[in-house]
Amino acid sequence: MKTRIEAYQNRIEAFLDRLLDPLQTPVPEMMAAMRYSTLGGGKRLRPLLVYATGEAVTAPEAALDRIAAALEMIHVYSLIHDDLPAMDDDDMRRGKPTCHKAYGEALAVLAGDALQALAFATLTDEAISPDPGLRLALVNSMAEAAGLRGMAGGQAMDLASEGKALSVEDLERMHRLKTGALIHASVLLPAIAGNAAAGTRARLSAYADCIGLAFQIRDDLLDVEGDPALLGKACGADQLLNKATFPSLLGIEASRTRARQLVDEGLENLQPLGQEADLLRFLARYIVERMH
Ligand code: IPE
Ligand code: IPE
Ligand code: MG
Ligand code: MG
Ligand code: MG
Repeated sequence: MKTRIEAYQNRIEAFLDRLLDPLQTPVPEMMAAMRYSTLGGGKRLRPLLVYATGEAVTAPEAALDRIAAALEMIHVYSLIHDDLPAMDDDDMRRGKPTCHKAYGEALAVLAGDALQALAFATLTDEAISPDPGLRLALVNSMAEAAGLRGMAGGQAMDLASEGKALSVEDLERMHRLKTGALIHASVLLPAIAGNAAAGTRARLSAYADCIGLAFQIRDDLLDVEGDPALLGKACGADQLLNKATFPSLLGIEASRTRARQLVDEGLENLQPLGQEADLLRFLARYIVERMH
């Protein structure tokens, strides 16, 4: 499994490197900021989910590369903006200074904007499918996941909740939006590209909802008990900003239990699928066990 994962990580790295061609730009400094934040770091969980779902539903590889790249670029844009002084004000990301520390705030905002635009453009590439209706469905699903009812909306809820005691329901809702939506899209888009049957799509969708929430619970836990050297970002940042998190609301043990429960529920949804879903199963377990 480890070699398969590394092969996919190398594959997406090479593909992103090609997409972000430093020679194809009138503004080299901005491209440098985009490449700095996108290349050579991160777990690539969203691309891995894309390829793993592609295995489960047998979607074409040319589509998977582009969907994986689009999701990673939206994710990286969300990280660049998340780290800005106006948001979490963080100095370290993926083991190096954050984009705004290296390139300044204005360029960090613009690099994020341009990554988002490039992500959507990548989903319109004919190499994905000759069917424009299918490509439009991908663009639409990505827009839902990234926008007001997805990541961006969740990030706004996160900021509004600083210093407030949320109910568990509201906290879950916020996590499902800010992090769960893009993880859900990482499974839904390849299922669309692979023309998965409605039943399979529903199961994959339920799986993705569960692991998406579990992923952010694990992120919250690692902020409390993780190792900054391994994480490549600061710990204790959530407490410093009085963020509403799972450990702050439920405590460490209950948060761990909830994350494990969600992963079990996610795995149950994959039960009828055969060994073609083994990478999806592996990634679900990895999400709650990971140390970075
Ligand atoms: C961090 O995401 C931000 C969250 C949505 C929790 P990741 O933990 O996937 O970050 P990278 O991509 O590996 O750096
Ligand atoms: C970030 O959540 C979620 C998004 C970037 C959409 P966090 O603020 O907890 O992520 P980290 O801990 O800074 O990576
Ligand atoms: Mg944040
Ligand atoms: Mg943050
Ligand atoms: Mg965090």
